[in-house]
Amino acid sequence: MSTSSIGYESIENATLDELQALQLTRLKQTLNHVYTNSPVYRKKFEDKGVHPDDLRELGDLAKFPFTTKADLRDNYPFGMNCVPMEQIVRIHASSGTTGRPTVVSYTQEDIDIWALVGARSIYAAGGRPNDKVHVSYGYGLFTGGLGAHYGAERLGCAVIPMGGGQTAKQVQLIHDFDPEIIMVTPSYMLNIADEMDAQNIDTSKLSLRLGIFGAEPWTGLMREAIENRLGIDAVDIYGLSEVMGPGVAQECIEAKDGPTIWEDHFYPEIIDPETGEVLEDGKEGELVFTNLTKTGMPMIRYRTRDLSRLLPGTSRTMRRMDKITGRSDDMLIIRGVNVFPSQVEEQILTIDSLSPHYMIEVSRENNMDSLCICVEPKAEMSADAVEAACTQLQQRVKAMVGVSSKIDMKTVGSLPRSEGKAKRVVDSR
Ligand code: DLL
Repeated sequence: MSTSSIGYESIENATLDELQALQLTRLKQTLNHVYTNSPVYRKKFEDKGVHPDDLRELGDLAKFPFTTKADLRDNYPFGMNCVPMEQIVRIHASSGTTGRPTVVSYTQEDIDIWALVGARSIYAAGGRPNDKVHVSYGYGLFTGGLGAHYGAERLGCAVIPMGGGQTAKQVQLIHDFDPEIIMVTPSYMLNIADEMDAQNIDTSKLSLRLGIFGAEPWTGLMREAIENRLGIDAVDIYGLSEVMGPGVAQECIEAKDGPTIWEDHFYPEIIDPETGEVLEDGKEGELVFTNLTKTGMPMIRYRTRDLSRLLPGTSRTMRRMDKITGRSDDMLIIRGVNVFPSQVEEQILTIDSLSPHYMIEVSRENNMDSLCICVEPKAEMSADAVEAACTQLQQRVKAMVGVSSKIDMKTVGSLPRSEGKAKRVVDSR
């Protein structure tokens, strides 16, 4: 692959024909690789009655079986690997809510490709060699920290590998080291911004110019809230450990119109989550990814559970994904109405007096679902103002989301703060 300049590769703006030809070649290679080297994939293909030779065009991928988190759990820890253990140089894991963690293995080549798409992502986000990058994604088994780290180093940036937590120290280092870029979850960014206020730091004097935020859903209004508060550009980075980690898709700074999927490495499909049928571009459904270049533990048609749409390319030839509205497993059904936490977030952020910190509690009282939204004011308010904000939020949630709710206005600073992925929902039903 030719590289036009550091962080930007010519394939990003190849013609659609060139891109699809490359995808087809790589897809054939990957299907043959997993069929030959993984008893798990071979059995899945045989059970479905398909062989790698059945793929003649990209659309033929629909004939192949899906891979799910259950496949990874059933083959815990290394049963999905497609190369001998000697070739594995890195292992990451994500802790699920129940049972065994999901384990992913990488070869050296996989790590190199990950660094490359990471560098490409930071470049598309507006980062340049010589920028200093403060990484507040967690290091360790989570892919956030190391993924961002290798990408930034590959681009030629100076990395500050802070990791998650120690919020007061985060602020001190941002103040003293003058990074231009921060990579962190949007919810932890808010927490760090509160700490900046607590330390009386004038955020307009900070060197930060760009935030690359991901690992959890966040709305367009949250982008505005963060950009205005910190005077930076905020762009969206998407990824998941099973498929690679951060850098599967990245929003380009010039358009801020949803992440561009790095389609030369990750082949996307959108399916109907109920029937598994492939949907045409533009239709909303579940995102499915197939690795085109990973060899250690490639995913074939991995069901992400993330709900999105495929949109035409704008800043690049490659297609974009719509900002994730939520995961199918985050969806709450409240008295028959489908509710995503992001919909509630949008309503909270339309009310000026409320802070962007929130939690949603769902319970069942007398066989009826009950939704309680816990929010905080930006600053202490009078009892009348509290009541007005609560009524306003209640009305907006009813009108826009379609459910009745109770509002619990907490005191400033009392809701739990995130240091990584925010936990927004407590469902005690
Ligand atoms: O969260 C990888 C990552 C790290 C992405 C840092 C971006 C930045 P996992 O822990 O495996 O990996 O979680 C993956 O997080 O399926 C989505 O549900 C969610 N997610 C990741 N990025 C975004 C995003 C990392 N930009 C799961 N918007 C995914 C919404 C996101 N959800």
